[in-house]
Amino acid sequence: MTDNIWIQKITELCAEYNVGVSSQMEDFFKAYADNDAPASTQHHLAKEFGNWEHIYNVCKSALMLNKVFNLGYSEYSIVKVCLCHDIEKFENKAVPNVLKSGKVSEAKPYVYPKEGVFLGHGVTSLIEGLKYFSMDGLEKQAVLMHMAMYSYELDTDTIKDRMTRFTKLIHFADDISASLIEESFQDKKKGDE
Ligand SMILES: [Fe+2]
Ligand SMILES: [Fe+2]
Repeated sequence: MTDNIWIQKITELCAEYNVGVSSQMEDFFKAYADNDAPASTQHHLAKEFGNWEHIYNVCKSALMLNKVFNLGYSEYSIVKVCLCHDIEKFENKAVPNVLKSGKVSEAKPYVYPKEGVFLGHGVTSLIEGLKYFSMDGLEKQAVLMHMAMYSYELDTDTIKDRMTRFTKLIHFADDISASLIEESFQDKKKGDE
């Protein structure tokens, strides 16, 4: 049993939706359980284990939308894609943004590393995700294009022409999580909370 509460919550969510925890999922959990990457450098969940919390929120939102709107997608497929969609943030983990004063910046607590080869957010998440899970075309596209029009590795015409409803489901779940559910430093600044 891991002490990563987000893995525990994802496992509980899977039980709620009758998704069996596969050996591939267990390998994924094991690989990243101790990875405390934030979900962003200054926006949603810019804190330790923020990426895990975000992944849980995206799983929950996508499963809920699929159920409420009777979309009919496989729950296992949804969980698989949601687990993989932001692996890039585990791999290119942001580091604390330490100011000259020695304190960590409150406005922007993290920065992304500049060294190494960066292949892009969606591409990296897909490459790394395929190390754990086999995926069909729909699942691969959903990981790759989950940022929809912000999938900067791809041209906008390709996204417009090819984006499937399944990818839209993952994209909306991602957006609902990042923009609505998760604490935002920008919202705080606007006095929204
Ligand atoms: Fe993402
Ligand atoms: Fe995300």
